[in-house]
Amino acid sequence: MAKINHEQLAQLAVEAKKMAYVPYSNFRVGAALIAKSGKIYTGCNIESATYSPTNCAERTAIFKAVSEGEREFFAIAIAGSSENKEPNYCYPCGVCLQVIKEFADDDFIVIIAKTEEDYRIHSFGELLPYSFDSNDL
Ligand code: THU
Repeated sequence: MAKINHEQLAQLAVEAKKMAYVPYSNFRVGAALIAKSGKIYTGCNIESATYSPTNCAERTAIFKAVSEGEREFFAIAIAGSSENKEPNYCYPCGVCLQVIKEFADDDFIVIIAKTEEDYRIHSFGELLPYSFDSNDL
């Protein structure tokens, strides 16, 4: 397994927040996803005036990667913060956890970055220990 540079992935997630399109929430989220190919895909949240079509940063990164042919991943870093608040740890929403589940094993790494230097490292199994997946079908 390739050695993952947690700090680099956290930095890329913080950087990706700059691209967020968030006129309604002003809550910027960035994600950086490393595929087993070694390629890194970034994403940001993209909002809609009708709210529900909003796409989270994690799903933007995953959909970019999958649409480029990637199917297997090592890790994702996520950074989110409100424009008028200090950054805090921003965990993936339930919808994103289910999308990550589609492509991740329990040992997939989730890096929750408050800043480039301050981040927590979790396994995906910690964040979503029980869930529905393709084995249930
Ligand atoms: N959001 C994400 O992009 N990822 C998360 O994990 C949590 C929430 C976005 C959706 C919406 O644009 C804004 O943050 C506020 O919910």
